[in-house]
Amino acid sequence: MKLSELLLKDSMKFTLFGGKGGVGKTTCASASAIWAADHGRETLIISTDPAHSLSDSFNLDLSGGEVIPVPGFENLYGLEINPKLEFKKYQETVQASPVDIPEELSGFMGGMDEFSSLTPPGSDEALAFSKVLEFIQSGEYEYIIFDTAPSGHTLRLLSLPDVLDSFFGKIIKMRMKFGQIWGKLKGLFSRGQDEGPSKLEMLEDLKAKIEAASNELSDPSKTEFVIVMIPEMMAILETERLLSTLYEYEIPVHNIIINMILPPNPDCKFCSSRRIMQQKNLVEIRNLYDDFNLIELLLQPNEIRGLDSLRDLGKILIE
Ligand SMILES: Nc1ncnc2c1ncn2[C@@H]1O[C@H](COP(=O)(O)OP(=O)(O)OP(=O)(O)O)[C@@H](O)[C@H]1O
Ligand SMILES: [Mg+2]
Repeated sequence: MKLSELLLKDSMKFTLFGGKGGVGKTTCASASAIWAADHGRETLIISTDPAHSLSDSFNLDLSGGEVIPVPGFENLYGLEINPKLEFKKYQETVQASPVDIPEELSGFMGGMDEFSSLTPPGSDEALAFSKVLEFIQSGEYEYIIFDTAPSGHTLRLLSLPDVLDSFFGKIIKMRMKFGQIWGKLKGLFSRGQDEGPSKLEMLEDLKAKIEAASNELSDPSKTEFVIVMIPEMMAILETERLLSTLYEYEIPVHNIIINMILPPNPDCKFCSSRRIMQQKNLVEIRNLYDDFNLIELLLQPNEIRGLDSLRDLGKILIE
């Protein structure tokens, strides 16, 4: 499916833009969101990159933790998800009644420090992801575009259900190993009966939410991933890794944007030499990815920032 169709197809709910650092993910995601909104779709753009630049791209503060309507639009909204803020909120809830593990038990539990805090590895990301899930599940916005972090980080997010599985796996193993001590242990992590959900229950709830998000994201009728890359060997290698992970998590991808292509400039030796390098890699990319819809986007002479230049770029990118 071409990018223009993807952005306007009713059944499509989520589009994720991802790729190596600095290749133009935020710019392409923002330009696409504006294009979709200009064509009548109610669109929310969410950044899940902890090093946000969505606000800078839109020239608008989207960092407050709440969805912001983009001025000049009735159907375009933006949000930067702040994992630290979400994590803090979660900790405040969970630690409303902190528990200390008694010495005799903590000896038993050598090396199990993570139990005392009950924050499995990657929790802040998990919480950012569960915030994203709120939007996925609410159906409040017709269409959501995600500006994701450079590949490594995104891939970690995708593997979170596995990470949490192994965390829960550990708890279950502990339970089997320590038998009746488990009862005591469980008591430590539980609140009194009328005091709301226990920490374990909250964690299980979080895990269930993350699994639900993963399911949504692997539904080809609802979700597609758009890869952004540049015509350089390192970006090709990164794209290979990204594609194989997306394949592993069954997240569909049809469009690859090859960004920052240099136009010919015979008068500039430096530019010509870079262009030769890029064109050589382009041949390779066209060969490697002939099953994909490749979109070749020139490096623009102006700085792409703010609604007007993003809108202009969107037209070039999509039309
Ligand atoms: N086709 C283009 N022409 C000119 N400038 C571009 C183009 N694409 C991106 N840029 C510029 O390149 C810079 C990096 O782009 P952007 O922030 O979108 O990359 P990113 O992949 O989101 O980076 P990060 O990995 O840091 O999130 C920005 O200053 C952006 O304006
Ligand atoms: Mg970015």
